Amino acid sequence: MLTDTFGRKHNYLRISLTDACNLRCLYCMPNEKMAVTPSSKLMKVDEIVGITKAFVKLGVTKIRLTGGEPLVRNDARQIIQQLSKLPVELTTSTNAVLVNEYIDVFKEANISSVNVSLDSLNADEFFVITKRGDFKKILGNIYLLLANNFKVKVNMVVVKGVNEHAILDFINWTKDFPLDVRFIEFMPFAENKWDRSKVVSYVEMLDVISTCYAFEKLRDEPNDTAKKYQVKNHAGTFAFITTITQPFCSSCNRLRLTADGKMKNCLFSQGETDILGAYRRGEDIKSLIISCLKDKKEALGGNPNFAVTENRSMIKIGG
Ligand code: GTP
Ligand code: 5AD
Ligand code: SF4
Repeated sequence: MLTDTFGRKHNYLRISLTDACNLRCLYCMPNEKMAVTPSSKLMKVDEIVGITKAFVKLGVTKIRLTGGEPLVRNDARQIIQQLSKLPVELTTSTNAVLVNEYIDVFKEANISSVNVSLDSLNADEFFVITKRGDFKKILGNIYLLLANNFKVKVNMVVVKGVNEHAILDFINWTKDFPLDVRFIEFMPFAENKWDRSKVVSYVEMLDVISTCYAFEKLRDEPNDTAKKYQVKNHAGTFAFITTITQPFCSSCNRLRLTADGKMKNCLFSQGETDILGAYRRGEDIKSLIISCLKDKKEALGGNPNFAVTENRSMIKIGG
């Protein structure tokens, strides 16, 4: 078992497949000209599988594929197929632009749940946030996932002055559709122009929702990032990911692998461990994984006030 010095057991690995993306979300990839990592520096399919096997031997049971946008990688299919053979729960976080091309692959890989990022339910506003016009396609793909019985969580990053007014639209959406909408407090990463004044706290969001809806608190699972609620008689649920105003680090079970094969023991860790380099040199990566985990800080990468902004940008971490 991958246990850190605070006694937290880590069984969840988030693997970024690429730092390329087909959208340009302002809170994630503000710099349009950001260079994409050349493919020679990315983990290849067999390397992803080999490295993942080492994590699985050490106790990982859940794997989430992230990006950038994981599905833009042209060998994403093979990666999903190969990883589905391992004894893990496999899932992905995607912007859903390409999901229609992957429904069969997901089914064959026994993926039952997909998380989709969507920050507005208005096409014009979606364009302002993402600089791309794929709103209708994404919406269609969310309905396609539902029609194919996937569990769908919708991630909405709430940025003050940008999209906070859309919170009630998303709540209304859960009336007839069994979607789990998650409102995410805006987090700081390199070059994303974060400051505290742009954060809408979950308490503020709850206040807004309570002006229009009666809701109840649902039970959360032990390692959940989200605090779950449901409006009475709605088919879906809503939740908050409260990294800024109420971090949930004490129950953290997550490890990360960037697309260029660096392990991060926390979303906000400044240190990284070069797993891919060691794997390519034929070295023992299990001991590297264990020593990287040993350095994990108690909370927020040891930077509880978000004063240090030395970290990768979100698109280069993978969420
Ligand atoms: P589930 O596995 O379904 O619970 O999804 P998830 O919340 O782990 O993953 P997802 O990729 O959907 O991410 C939703 C939001 O949670 C994003 O803003 C992530 O950056 C954030 N998030 C994911 N993992 C962590 C984490 O370990 N710590 C913090 N603080 N935020 C996280
Ligand atoms: N703050 C909070 N969430 C973010 N995401 C990307 N950037 C940020 C940020 N700055 C979310 C995406 C995606 C998930 C993997 O991370 O919207 O749903
Ligand atoms: Fe875990 Fe770091 Fe996220 Fe806290 S901020 S929950 S320690 S990954």
